[in-house]
Amino acid sequence: MKAMVLCSSPRRDGNSTTMANAVADGLLEAGHEVETVHVDDVLSALLRDCRQCRMPDGECAIDDGFRRAFFGSYLPADGFVAASPIYWYGVSAQLKAFFDRMFCYVAASHPQSASVVAQMTGKRIGLVLSSEETYPTVSSSPQHQFQEFSRYTRSTFVGVVHGHGNARTDICRDPSDPIGRARVFGRNFFSAHTSDYQIDTPRSGRVWA
Ligand SMILES: Cc1cc2nc3c(=O)[nH]c(=O)nc-3n(C[C@H](O)[C@H](O)[C@H](O)COP(=O)(O)O)c2cc1C
Repeated sequence: MKAMVLCSSPRRDGNSTTMANAVADGLLEAGHEVETVHVDDVLSALLRDCRQCRMPDGECAIDDGFRRAFFGSYLPADGFVAASPIYWYGVSAQLKAFFDRMFCYVAASHPQSASVVAQMTGKRIGLVLSSEETYPTVSSSPQHQFQEFSRYTRSTFVGVVHGHGNARTDICRDPSDPIGRARVFGRNFFSAHTSDYQIDTPRSGRVWA
């Protein structure tokens, strides 16, 4: 399978990227193809008003690396893992902007929107978070955002790895071993059992065969 690991902290040697690298290692160990993209490398502007900004041929007028990352890495991937520090109880502005910028290509006014929409569905989705605080709900908002995004895109929300640290490399000292958990998460990303039942979903009453 093809996976994209999307790093969104401005700190390349920071905590969330360290965990994201461990996810990538796990994915590779399981024999998957991995592409790691740093949002800062590809995105230089926020979403604008598409109606004003769009080129006459319907293309996005913002000339940066987003289009290449979106069409070349995100859309072809069978799944992606987004890594972010917790900033003000949400994801980083970089990660939010990466998802906002998709709008230009999803909107019906883009010539390839039907194919884009089709390629945005059915992915496996994971989240890697680092925060200074250990309060249990500190990551509620990002988790909820990606849960809703998964639902909206008919995708499967596989899970979250949350580690705690503040200074660079602090994450290595987290006794809950988020780096080890991230590696296992990557290894099992495409094979992990997932379920999201409706009341009338036929089921055996057991989770494990
Ligand atoms: C702008 C900013 C906002 C932050 N907001 C929070 C917060 O709301 N809660 C928290 O626990 N940590 C917060 N932090 C701390 C980071 O989440 C923490 O240092 C994290 O490990 C950084 O990850 P990184 O090394 O991948 O950038 C904030 C840090 C910054 C720079």
